[in-house]
Amino acid sequence: MMESRHAQRKNEHLSLAAKYYDQVHRHYFDQVRLIHDSLPEMSTDDVDLHVQLADNLKIENPFYIEAMTGGSEQALKVNRQLAQLAHKHHLAMATGSLSIISKDPQAYASFDVIREENPDGIIFANLSANATLDQAQEAISLLHADALELHINAAQELIMPEGDRDFNWLDNIQYLVSELDIPVIVKEVGFGMSKTTIAKLQTHDVHLINVSGRGGTNFAAIENRRNHDIDFASLLDWGQTTPEALLEAHSSRRGKTEIIASGGIISPLDVIKAGVLGARAVGVAGYFLNVLQRDGYERLDQILSEWIVIVKRLLALLGCASFTDLSRVDYVLGTDLLSYARQRHLR
Ligand code: FNR
Repeated sequence: MMESRHAQRKNEHLSLAAKYYDQVHRHYFDQVRLIHDSLPEMSTDDVDLHVQLADNLKIENPFYIEAMTGGSEQALKVNRQLAQLAHKHHLAMATGSLSIISKDPQAYASFDVIREENPDGIIFANLSANATLDQAQEAISLLHADALELHINAAQELIMPEGDRDFNWLDNIQYLVSELDIPVIVKEVGFGMSKTTIAKLQTHDVHLINVSGRGGTNFAAIENRRNHDIDFASLLDWGQTTPEALLEAHSSRRGKTEIIASGGIISPLDVIKAGVLGARAVGVAGYFLNVLQRDGYERLDQILSEWIVIVKRLLALLGCASFTDLSRVDYVLGTDLLSYARQRHLR
């Protein structure tokens, strides 16, 4: 079957993101060192991995499969495999952007499969921040979604030849938050957030914020490979790294805001470090996709089993009975991150 232009774009994202993940990945979490306590006074049996993200949103594991795809035959296959693994390992899973279903009704099946394979799991539907209320309600009901992610991706859109050029999003975000009866998470797509962004979201009633920082999937690199008209290589280092964004969030956090991390997470220790820097939960996209595409389903299956065990054991090592307790763990910052924090008055 001939696929639409939108579907082709989704396929290009999938293959470029997976193929170049190792090349673009930078391990900024090396800049965070945790302080060891030889007397944790804790047993692994004491550790409970559940995380409460909102009154009506509880997830069984602190890390989850972050938003990636939908809208093509290839996306359907990837979503089916990811949803099967989410089901097996009790991981929450976010869908790729459902904005495509209003342009290409054939795309439906590639999202539907996520609920089909995981009837009782926690699913986050994903849409652009300029989605209408109708689009949001349709996406939520299609997936029986437990939360809605709204992505804010100005840098990515600007690089895409077919991208949006209008970034007036805040009022619409606030409207969707007020009208929907499930939690709304606002997320970046790998460029990170500053305390200014976070404060704007907070004043517009957003209480779940995924800072999705630089370090992993790099949409400047991906879109630049797709777009040969204008060279946006200057944006390859744009934005805040995930540790930087988490420190930014630290300084602006107040009230009932919960911070979620994603961007460049490639190990259970990264998940833990993100928790130490204040993340309530941690999304992983590019690394899981890369493993799935390069090494196959069984290898990702094995990695997910291992991550769950290791996260639990690391929590015990750090004397933490829950993921949220990590915010009490002491750490020191590497020179670059410390310099960033000082110049930004974050420490
Ligand atoms: C993404 N990401 C993404 N985010 C979003 O909110 N809606 C989307 O449709 C997509 N699409 C998408 C496709 C592919 C192939 C990848 C790899 C990623 C961004 C993703 O959710 C995450 O924010 C970033 O990728 C950073 O995390 P990683 O990839 O470094 O773990």
